Amino acid sequence: MALPLPYLIFIFICIFLPFPTTAQAYNNITLGSFLKAGDSSSSWVSPSKDFAFGFKEIEPGSFLLAIWFNQIPEKTITWCANRDHLVLSGSKVELTTDKGLTLTNSDGLEIWRAKLVSNGSSRGERLSYAAILDTGNFMLATQASAILWQSFDEPTDTLLPTQVLNLGGKLIARFTEKNYSGGRFSFTLLRDGNAALYTTHFPLYNSLNEYYLSYKEVGHQVVFNQSGVLYLVARNGSIVTDMFSNELSEKQVIYQRVILEFDGVLRHYVYKKSSSLTGGGWSIKSFAPDNICTAVIQKTGSGVCGYNSYCKLGNDSKPHCICPPGYTVLDPEDEMSGCFQSFLPQSCDKTTPENNRFDFKVLKDVDWPLSDYEHFQNVSIDWCREVCLADCFCAVGIFRESRDCWKKKLPLTNGKDDGSVGRTAFIKVRISSGFNERQYNRIKKVLTALLATSGSANIVLLGIVVIGFYFFEHRKNPKVSGNYSVRSFSYKELNEATNRFNEELGRGAFGVVYKGFISDQLGTQTPIAVKKLDALSQNADKEFKAEVNSIGHTHHKNLVKLVGFCEEEEHRMLVYEYMSNGTLSDFLYQPPKPTWEKRLRIAQGIARGLFYLHEDCSTQVIHCDIKPQNILLDDDHNARISDFGLAKLLRLDQTQTNTAPRGTRGYVAPEWFKNMPITAKVDVYSFGILLLEIICCQRNVQGENNEEEGVILLTDWAFDCYQMETIDELVKDDTEALNDKKRLERMVKICIWCIQDDPCLRPTTRRVVEMLEGLVQVPEPPCPTSYSTSETT
Ligand SMILES: *[C@@H]1O[C@H](CO)[C@@H](O)[C@H](O)[C@H]1NC(C)=O
Ligand SMILES: *[C@@H]1O[C@H](CO)[C@@H](O)[C@H](O)[C@H]1NC(C)=O
Ligand SMILES: *[C@@H]1O[C@H](CO)[C@@H](O)[C@H](O)[C@H]1NC(C)=O
Ligand SMILES: *[C@@H]1O[C@H](CO)[C@@H](O)[C@H](O)[C@H]1NC(C)=O
Ligand SMILES: *[C@@H]1O[C@H](CO)[C@@H](O)[C@H](O)[C@H]1NC(C)=O
Ligand SMILES: *[C@@H]1O[C@H](CO)[C@@H](O)[C@H](O)[C@H]1NC(C)=O
Ligand SMILES: *[C@@H]1O[C@H](CO)[C@@H](O)[C@H](O)[C@H]1NC(C)=O
Repeated sequence: MALPLPYLIFIFICIFLPFPTTAQAYNNITLGSFLKAGDSSSSWVSPSKDFAFGFKEIEPGSFLLAIWFNQIPEKTITWCANRDHLVLSGSKVELTTDKGLTLTNSDGLEIWRAKLVSNGSSRGERLSYAAILDTGNFMLATQASAILWQSFDEPTDTLLPTQVLNLGGKLIARFTEKNYSGGRFSFTLLRDGNAALYTTHFPLYNSLNEYYLSYKEVGHQVVFNQSGVLYLVARNGSIVTDMFSNELSEKQVIYQRVILEFDGVLRHYVYKKSSSLTGGGWSIKSFAPDNICTAVIQKTGSGVCGYNSYCKLGNDSKPHCICPPGYTVLDPEDEMSGCFQSFLPQSCDKTTPENNRFDFKVLKDVDWPLSDYEHFQNVSIDWCREVCLADCFCAVGIFRESRDCWKKKLPLTNGKDDGSVGRTAFIKVRISSGFNERQYNRIKKVLTALLATSGSANIVLLGIVVIGFYFFEHRKNPKVSGNYSVRSFSYKELNEATNRFNEELGRGAFGVVYKGFISDQLGTQTPIAVKKLDALSQNADKEFKAEVNSIGHTHHKNLVKLVGFCEEEEHRMLVYEYMSNGTLSDFLYQPPKPTWEKRLRIAQGIARGLFYLHEDCSTQVIHCDIKPQNILLDDDHNARISDFGLAKLLRLDQTQTNTAPRGTRGYVAPEWFKNMPITAKVDVYSFGILLLEIICCQRNVQGENNEEEGVILLTDWAFDCYQMETIDELVKDDTEALNDKKRLERMVKICIWCIQDDPCLRPTTRRVVEMLEGLVQVPEPPCPTSYSTSETT
């Protein structure tokens, strides 16, 4: 919008040739004068009109009692009275004989009052008038013009030309660019004579750590003079040092100020008056310190940026606080507020390693120098990665080219990207079941809303929200939870989840298993396996209930978790967590042949799962159908026992039971056929067969159509090999196993113990676990059939 030329000329005249008569009217503010926030003209203006004193609207309806540059479009506040308590419209500042200058809020409560010095009052002189001067100073004076109070003596974050900071004087930075509350940094001339920049002990404003010192122990005054020089005067009156020494030649036509900004940098700004109509803007003339990111080091406290954040100097020489990958800023309005992990933190609970999948994001040249808790020398970069990955306390690993490696703990402090090359930061992030993009944005929205609405309760609310999301995650994700409740699904839900039972995963004794996906309120898709039980007899219906009950109460890392069930009309379904790596059967018998180590790890996993079922959970569960098709492998190839379809609940007072023969040929213990009590030892037998298969990578029963006779070759062969001391035959071509002769022998001996015909001779699962892990010696086993040959009829 262009102004007509005559109008421009008029404005020009107004600015540079102020009419004395009109200026007079603003000069003296008499007793009884007042201003009201929200009124159209709620300010007093200096004779030159350069400065105004009064109410400035900071947010809609919220006001600061302030002094500001009055003739430029940019809102530039140089002083304020109520930075920590914004007032509402209707609030009042008033000049009275008895109270001096007071600010009362819209309810009439006094918020602030100018503290008058006793100047003159000893001579009976009292407050007579107030004035806002062309320097930007607002003063209260007596009839004889002795100063009783002046804004220059109580600076907030700004110094104006001719203003002086006396001993004990202090500038406190704003909290953020738009929040005028006292913030995290101060510029202080301490009584010991040190003029320095300090971090404040927020929210207390005492000085915490010095980060920029102008001169030590000699300061008496900091002076900002009209030439734009900021200097320190010593006690003897000599000028000690220039802090900012850029003398301005065009001083008449320039506005200037020195401000300690919210980012901790002390800056000298100038503004060409001639550009005030077009909004020429403030430009930086000088600043200190040169690099705030590296200047601030705090033993306690977060550093320039908030916790877990890091500071990088932009090409505008201003610091920028950046969250490392996987982290989110706490308050999007305040980049210095710090960052939180936008994923579930790593758990140190060893019983749930499958939920602790982490990897690194790499940042070059970034470091958090004070967050170390371990330091290794002369190591490789890969070693450094691995050692941090394996340590649940390690949030970040730092590797330096000198072959140094540091582990860093949370919260990270004093983070900086200082451009000094040769350092690599590994930021540990969760790679599965973390917050996804949608959840993350949702959290962001909630937090933004929260932070926009309320004040001091934020921290508490923030905590509640974070904890809330954390628990929500726990609740909705059975992998993460220690929560035993099983969800009930409707048929319709599962029909949709499986896309009308479209993708078949496999067929078991009782029905077909389908793949599906369930999504929570936040839209996260979790894969599931839905086992649809075949047309049910009355018997199977009972079985179903038993299964839901028993599985619903189990929780172990080597068991497939039941997520829910469906029991609607004739439909009976079980919903399990989905296992991405298929069955042990496929893993063992499809190339490539898994390594010896992996196989042994799986065997141990199965044994631990069985041990849990037999002895560790509240009600003993006998699986009755242990075989490779019923062992599934999760993302990390952990063995997970599945298909409790044949599991029989045993009451604790009745540890033995008779049941009709069950199980799968080749894995079934002999007692099934002998009308003997069925105990947990049937699972031990099946496990023995399974272990042998895992060792040899061969099926116990070869071929589908083989006759019962002559089929169970592997067990016989294994015992023969053991007796003949030729167990190498069992693992032909498997060099890994052949080189691990001792363990191989131990494994074979365990097998033979497990497949004893006499259930009493078989070890308990507890013993099996101990033997597998090498905690106890494995004695020489007898022939498996010695018992049956003597006892069978
Ligand atoms: C302001 O008031 C004081 C005291 O009443 C007086 O001495 C002074 O001349 C006044 N100044 C102006 C510019 O009116
Ligand atoms: C108090 O009065 C003395 C002398 O009148 C003066 O030097 C001093 O600056 C005054 N103090 C203030 C704060 O005005
Ligand atoms: C401001 O201080 C500088 C350095 O001490 C000096 O050279 C300059 O003359 C001073 N300007 C004014 C207006 O006092
Ligand atoms: C004033 O004090 C400073 C620092 O203590 C010293 O360097 C300087 O010589 C002194 N000047 C005078 C005139 O005493
Ligand atoms: C400074 O950075 C901004 C973007 O961050 C870029 O647009 C600008 O060109 C850079 N200026 C210089 C001088 O590098
Ligand atoms: C670092 O390790 C290498 C071999 O691993 C060794 O030769 C070298 O002496 C070690 N350097 C130091 C400083 O320990
Ligand atoms: C400014 O920041 C302070 C400190 O965090 C906070 O208490 C206050 O509510 C904020 N003020 C506004 C207007 O947001």
